[in-house]
Amino acid sequence: MAKTQLGVIFGSRSCEREVAIISAIQLMNHVNTEKYDIIPVYIAPDGRWYTGDALRKVQTFTAWDPAKAQQVHLDITAGSGALTAIKPGKGLFGKPEQVIVARLEVCVIVMHGLNGEDGTLQGLLELANLPYTSTGVAGSAVGMDKIMMKQFFKGCGFPVLPGCWFTAAKYAEDPNAALEQVEKELGWPVYVKPANLGSSIGVTRADDAEGFADAMELAFEYDRRVLVEKGLDKPIELNCSVIGFDGDCEASPVEMPISHEETLTFAEKYLAGGGTKSSGMASLSRVLPAPIPDERRDEIQALSKRIFTEMDCKGVVRIDYMWDRATDKLFITEINTIPGSLAYYLWEAAGVKYSTLIDRMVEIALKAHREKNSRTYVYTSEILKGATLGAKGSKGAKGSKGGKW
Ligand SMILES: Nc1ncnc2c1ncn2[C@@H]1O[C@H](COP(=O)(O)OP(=O)(O)O)[C@@H](O)[C@H]1O
Ligand SMILES: [Mg+2]
Repeated sequence: MAKTQLGVIFGSRSCEREVAIISAIQLMNHVNTEKYDIIPVYIAPDGRWYTGDALRKVQTFTAWDPAKAQQVHLDITAGSGALTAIKPGKGLFGKPEQVIVARLEVCVIVMHGLNGEDGTLQGLLELANLPYTSTGVAGSAVGMDKIMMKQFFKGCGFPVLPGCWFTAAKYAEDPNAALEQVEKELGWPVYVKPANLGSSIGVTRADDAEGFADAMELAFEYDRRVLVEKGLDKPIELNCSVIGFDGDCEASPVEMPISHEETLTFAEKYLAGGGTKSSGMASLSRVLPAPIPDERRDEIQALSKRIFTEMDCKGVVRIDYMWDRATDKLFITEINTIPGSLAYYLWEAAGVKYSTLIDRMVEIALKAHREKNSRTYVYTSEILKGATLGAKGSKGAKGSKGGKW
């Protein structure tokens, strides 16, 4: 049987690009090469797309030289999947030629953060009508935006901490009003977070007015919109992964990441023990399975599956929680629709090998794609025949008879 052409798309213009590179190389190292041909596709920070075997090594990215890879373009014609390159013409007057370098059949998206995890790449692949392994456009976008995520979870009746949010313009207009609102509605401490980031970048705890001003300044460096959330004191953090599609899903064992700081930091997540070696999110110090009562574990797994279903998730996600020691209450921290290291270590703990996890992700991508293409996208009507355009008196309506809408 012919091997499936598996595009692994990673990188992109995001603060979490380096984390995505590690997640992608890790994944490529575990793909069953008897079933799949791996086609690495790296989106560089300048937006150019590249392919080539060099993209499977971390060293390629420590001193990035575009000459080591081949620049390509994705043909977004629905169903094409072609990656094309421009071949220079022969001799002095030879015309450059467009050649097909590879054809993607299924795409694994390994992006963290903006321009990839947030629905943008998912939208591109929907237009190109290619199967892909992550949550769709709407779920990805809501899952990326911490403000909308909170509003969505609240609407579903899921447990979230109280919060409020500000745009840079609104905050600049009256920082004191923002401070008063936070003191009145939330009280100290609070957590200040850029709406669309991850990996703890730009996230700060503020314990007073001064800390709040600094935290807001930092958060606005990363985003136009900032979430301010009621802070908990050293909560117990618990994470759970879910895999599936269309409500048919399964939850992984629950892990307890260990933090030695007030906040789980970028270094703790990706540079185990503060060293310089990283194997992505798999580096983090953790207790797995988390030493929590069975009822709490069951509650987390059940809630994770409900969240997955409400957000119409697809593939593998990770949902993070905080268990407040003071009140014994559980709160959702966030959903990661493309989790670090694709949460493979949580599935390994359930006896699922990484290569099997990838197989399942691909099966899900293909199933969702078949499902999408089985729907009707044509609705024939007479509307164009009887159309009259433009409003009376407007420039665009010149020459037309005007008329009803
Ligand atoms: N409300 C809060 N109270 C206490 N700690 C928090 C709170 N919000 C976030 N944190 C800490 O900050 C970390 C990062 O916050 P999170 O919302 O998950 O952002 P990111 O998307 O950057 O991971 C959490 O893992 C936790 O350690
Ligand atoms: Mg987090």
